[in-house]
Amino acid sequence: MRLKNKTAIITGAGNGIGKETALLFAKEGANVVVTDINEEAVNQTSEEIKKSGGKAISISHNISCENDWEKVVLKTLDNYAEINILFNNAGTFLIKPLIETTLEEWQNLMNINVAGTFLGLKHVIPVMMKQNGGSIINNSSTAGLAGSVGVSLYGASKGAIRSLTKHVAMEYGSYHIRANSIYPGFIDTDMMKYRGEIDQSNEQQQSKGVPLGRIGYPQEVARTVLFLASEDSSYTTGAEFVIDGGRSAGRSPSKGEMYE
Ligand SMILES: NC(=O)c1ccc[n+]([C@@H]2O[C@H](COP(=O)([O-])OP(=O)(O)OC[C@H]3O[C@@H](n4cnc5c(N)ncnc54)[C@H](O)[C@@H]3O)[C@@H](O)[C@H]2O)c1
Repeated sequence: MRLKNKTAIITGAGNGIGKETALLFAKEGANVVVTDINEEAVNQTSEEIKKSGGKAISISHNISCENDWEKVVLKTLDNYAEINILFNNAGTFLIKPLIETTLEEWQNLMNINVAGTFLGLKHVIPVMMKQNGGSIINNSSTAGLAGSVGVSLYGASKGAIRSLTKHVAMEYGSYHIRANSIYPGFIDTDMMKYRGEIDQSNEQQQSKGVPLGRIGYPQEVARTVLFLASEDSSYTTGAEFVIDGGRSAGRSPSKGEMYE
């Protein structure tokens, strides 16, 4: 077991990547604190964990609300006394051309994706400092690494998460706190289905330009998060992990086009 007796907070654990990570962490022996704004979904995650013999508590949590973060930290310490791992995973998405995006939409998305991640760091790092160690994993996106069309606001929020992670790695490394970020590509979750509805694309279209020829699955992201949470990555901090089937590695030449 790679996380035996470790305590992990996972946000957005009611669905998708967060849920699969919670299930995997529990199998690896962690005490899992699963949180989500969707209370019913996150209760379901903790029930599934407990039914299969794992340890979990669920908390209703809006990541952009500072009082909610205080409650999450207190409840975690009351139950398990430590916080060893934080997976800042919850986030939201918007497809819209930049010039049609309203200031309200900008503020709302930044408040969830960026302020939500910042608040998690702000409230969990002091606990990890007292313990003299911990592992933080922030969920960015390949949209935070390179430009795309229609996702400028989302991409900017994920770029901010990339930068925050590196600053945290520098600022708190002396306390043996590691901070790394992950960059999923097209992963089969409800978030991708929403994206599919908007541009009428389907799984086949999403797989175009992916060297491995398919979309990814949340379980595949969860395994990278497990590596970063565990001692297997003990000398890794401030690093970036792309999980996109190779899509961002380069550009496939179209038919008849010369290789450059
Ligand atoms: N699916 C993809 O293709 C993909 C690609 C790159 C990055 N990501 C990132 O992965 C993370 C997880 O997304 P997913 O694909 O599993 O989607 P998902 O929709 O399955 O899960 C997202 C979860 O976050 C929760 N959530 C949303 N706003 C919240 C808030 N304010 N407070 C607390 N919880 C909130 C939702 O209720 C949901 O359970 C997100 O940060 C997303 O940006 C996803």
